[in-house]
This record gives sequence, C-alpha cells and structure tokens, in this order.
Amino acid sequence: MCGIICYCGHKQAVPILIEGLKRLEYRGYDSAGFSIVDKGKNKIVKAKGRVSRLEEKKIGLAMNSTFGIAHTRWATHGKPSEINAHPQTDCANKISVVHNGIIENYLELKKELEEKGHRFKSETDTEVIPHLIEENFDGDLEVAVLKSVERLRGTFGIAVLHADIDHQIIIVKRGSPIIVGVGKNEYFAASDSNALAPFTNKMIYLSDDEMAVLNTSGYYIKNLKNELLEKKIEVLDASEYKIDKRGFEHYMLKEIFEQPESVQNAYRGRLIESEGVSKLGGLEPVINRLKNINKLIIVSCGTSYYAGLLGRYIFENLTELNIETELASEFRYRRLKLDENVAVLAISQSGETADTLAAIKEAKRKGALLLGIVNTVGTSIAQITDAGVYNHAGPEIGVASTKIYTSQLVILTLMALLIGRYQHISFSEGSEIINALTGLPGQIREILSNAKDIKEIALKYSKYRGFLYIGRLYNYPTAMEGALKLKEISYIHAEGYPAGEMKHGPISLIDKNFPTVAIAPDDLTLDKMVSNMQEIKARNGKILSITNSATQKVLGISDDTIIVPKTIPILQPILNIIPLQLFAYYIANERGCDIDKPRNLAKSVTVE
Ligand code: M6R
Repeated sequence: MCGIICYCGHKQAVPILIEGLKRLEYRGYDSAGFSIVDKGKNKIVKAKGRVSRLEEKKIGLAMNSTFGIAHTRWATHGKPSEINAHPQTDCANKISVVHNGIIENYLELKKELEEKGHRFKSETDTEVIPHLIEENFDGDLEVAVLKSVERLRGTFGIAVLHADIDHQIIIVKRGSPIIVGVGKNEYFAASDSNALAPFTNKMIYLSDDEMAVLNTSGYYIKNLKNELLEKKIEVLDASEYKIDKRGFEHYMLKEIFEQPESVQNAYRGRLIESEGVSKLGGLEPVINRLKNINKLIIVSCGTSYYAGLLGRYIFENLTELNIETELASEFRYRRLKLDENVAVLAISQSGETADTLAAIKEAKRKGALLLGIVNTVGTSIAQITDAGVYNHAGPEIGVASTKIYTSQLVILTLMALLIGRYQHISFSEGSEIINALTGLPGQIREILSNAKDIKEIALKYSKYRGFLYIGRLYNYPTAMEGALKLKEISYIHAEGYPAGEMKHGPISLIDKNFPTVAIAPDDLTLDKMVSNMQEIKARNGKILSITNSATQKVLGISDDTIIVPKTIPILQPILNIIPLQLFAYYIANERGCDIDKPRNLAKSVTVE
C-alpha cells in the first residue's frame, strides 16, 4: 500500500501523475515512483522519500508520454528503498504494476515463477504480479491479467500497463480501493478520489472482483468472470475532496479548527426538532429491521474505536439495546453468535481500514445487519454495509484523526436518539439532546478562541517523557483518545486509563516526572475523579485537568486547568477532547515532529 494514480489520455502524463501523488501524500508513505510509456519504451522513475524527490529525478526525462501509472508506497514487505518502490516490473521490463494491499501467497508464487526462470529484483510481494502476468501474456493484456489475478490470494488494488500495448491501463480491485475517474476523452484511476480532484469529479467506484480497462477512446468494466458490467458514474461535490491548508501551519491544526463546521455538518438536516428525534436518510431502508434488533456491536480501530467505546455509553443511555464495542482486529477471530437480530456498526473515517472491513465481512456471513458511519464516500465499507450515515466532514488529511472523531460522536448520538425514541426516550429528553447538539458549534468556537492559553500550557509540559491520561465513564474514552493523539504525533509515551483502574497498577508510575491529564467534568463521577487526583498529588504527580466547572475541588489540586463550556454529560466528551487535540498538537510542534505525517503511520491502513 499506499496510493495509486493513473492517467490515460492526450495530455502529458507525468505532471498529472505527480500532482495526483502529491494529493495522496497525506496517507503516509516512504517512497514513490511512476511508469510511463514513450515510443514503446517503459520508462520508470522511483525515489525513496518524498514525491518532491521523484519530481527532481524526472527532470531531464523526455515526457511525451500520455499514459502512465504511479504509486506512493508504505513498506510492508521489504524496507523502504528505490528497488522496493512501485511500479514493479517483469523480467523484460515491459509490464509495470502498482499495487495496494498484500499478496498472501507471494512466496509460493515466487518460488513457482523462479523455477520457470523469472528473476526477481525486489523484496516485495507485489513483484509476483508482473511476473505472473508476463507468464500468462500471449498478446492480450486483459486475458493475462484475468488469468493472473485468479492465482492471487490476499487483497489488492492494482494498475497494470504493458509497453507494447498503446494507451491501455487495466485496474483490478479486491479488498483495496481503486476507482475510475472519467474526464473528457481522458480517463484516470486512483486509490482515492482526492487524487483526482483537480482533474475530474466524475468517479466510478469498483467493487471487489471487478476490473476496468482504460484507453483513449473510453473504458469498460467487467467482473473477473469476464462479464461486462454497467456501473453508475458518481458526481462528487467539490466539498467532498477539497484539500488545502487555508493558511494553517498543518492540516491537523486546520482540521481541529474546522470542528464547529464539521460537527454542525454531522447533524445538519438530520434533526426533527418538533418531534425531539433525529432523521437519518441513510438508515431509512433498514428502519424496520433496526427497530427489531436487540443487540448492537460496534467495530472499529484506533480513534474510530474510541468513538465506538463512547458510543457504547451513549447507546446504553438512550436505548434498550445490548451494546458491545470491539476492536475490529479482534472481532473477526471471535466465536460470536450473530443473527438477523444483531446489528454490527462499522465506524471508519477512510472507509477502507482492512481490519474493519474483515470484521464486517465476517458479520455479514453470519447474517447480521451491517451499518456504517463512514466519512469517505463510496469506499469499501460504505459499499458493503446494508445502510449507513456519512459524516460529510470533508477530507481529513492529517494522519491524526481529529474532526472525524467529534463528527462520529455526533452521528452516534443521532443514531442512538433515533432508536431510543422508538423505545423509552421521551420527547422532552429528545429535545434536550437536540438543544445540546445545536449548542456544540458555538461552544467549540469558544474553546478554540482560547488556543493561545492551551498552547502556553502545552509548552510547559513539552519536555516530559511520559503521561497518564485518566477519565471515568463518558470520559474514559476521552482519556484513551487524548493519549493516542499525544503519542502518535509527538512520539511521547502516553497511557489512557479509566481512572478507577489507576490504583490497580499505573499509580506506580506516578512521580514528579510523570504528569497526569485528568478529565474531570462536573458529572456523577466528579467526586471519585477528585479522589484519584488526590492520590496522584499525594505522590508528587503533576496534574493538568480538563473540566467544565470552576470548582475548587478540581482547581485546588490541579497544577494547571483548562475549563471548557458545559453541555449534557453524553456530549461533554466532544468538548473535552478539543483542548487535548490542541495540547498534543502544540507539544508535537514544539518538538519539531512531522505532525501531518507521523513516522511509521499511514492515514488509511489497508493491511491487516
Ligand atoms: O479510517 P479509520 O477511521 O477506519 O481508521 C482507523 C484508525 O486507523 C485511525 O483512527 C488511526 O488510529 C488514527 N491515526 C488516529 O488518529
């Protein structure tokens, strides 16, 4: 993995491929490369590191080619290097392949191909694909690709070209996203729509086991049984993929500051105030089934998992359902009894997270109703689920998720309200939730207007090497998410913990060099939180508290306090996380970290 862009048309391909790669940079990568065909010659340029290095290397290259494929790689098999970067080629250097995903049986295939005389250059799993195609090639690339993918096990989104076949690019999808972009007498393919934004807004989303053949006169789509398919062209709204930093130093900071709008977009048009209920068009096709489910299992990863963890408390509060929240990577291996009375809800920003996809495929096999909360339109999770709700938060480019987390929490609340109003939630309780929701954007703005003060506090803490984050009930997930934000972008160890568990182990870490971030809003857990904070103080631990009330109980034992506005307890975490996002951001910035592209991380994790 990580990003693919292809062009087939009448313009110079290289500038288009480079522009597309730059728009994929946010996904995280370690090397990049492209392949263009010029007068029957396959010209390949690769570079370790940034796309800008690739751009420098292409200078001097005759660039008349009007078709090519390109890739940003995030190493899975073989270290980051030019040799391992994609495109990978066959022995004759005629067939180029770029690939996202993992070929699970590559060792077996490699052995077989080597025995037939193929010579491998890289350590990648991907390289078996061009060799396999070479082995199957008899003048017809399409047939060779079809025969070859039959042999592949694992996940792939691939693009293939052959130097002897003018203006033909073949793409295939199984488990890893790849879409076709339709322009005027020119055609594109990419692993995500952001890469195509400057060129076209007309996209065709391939499903698993489908292939598209692009040439200058058009394109056609088939399944892997070689049957032609009719696929709908989706016309994307510019706001779905507009990318720029709008003057902010980093995408992450911009996205933190976008939260008043992204939170509002999550509930906009989805509230019926006169009935104290929400209205989610995406769930309407399954609403009768939804009314009859007795269990909801939320599956997701990373930040989306923490949203799900809080979702459990929200659903428990507003509905009569049994709720479980599971890490997607664990869920798929469990021996769970699922049936049509169980709904499995996948939460995913990218809509392509391999663990989450694998989990819901398992749930589908067992007959559960599949629901989704997805930000990126048309992606695999959005396609496979029976019904779902889009975040409409616009692209999130920073690898650290911020605006999508708060947006996910709003949508979880809307879903729980919708179901809860068929159950025990009254009109007035529903109205109270709606009022609180619509108050959030203004309250978030108020927190953001204090960013300078939060920065000052963050700088005081930027030299510590480890942190504990604690919270109870609704703010236990806030503690987990706050700690994740700090560790992933600043590389400082941070541990999120339910405050009650502190005395069962982590309290032994506390001393004057190990500060605690305590999320202590004024709710039914406050007194217990204060006791935990006293335990920290008694061991000389520093405390930064996040609270929604200027009570001396908290102020008196905190070294620093950030006060946020107050809302109802189930929504309070949406406000509490904002200063923690800023806190992590300012510390990482102070430490000179690569905030939007933290080391070792990818925005969209398409391998299990
Ligand atoms: O795209 P998804 O929401 O499925 O991604 C899940 C995680 O990979 C993601 O939230 C990750 O933990 C982020 N880096 C967190 O900031």
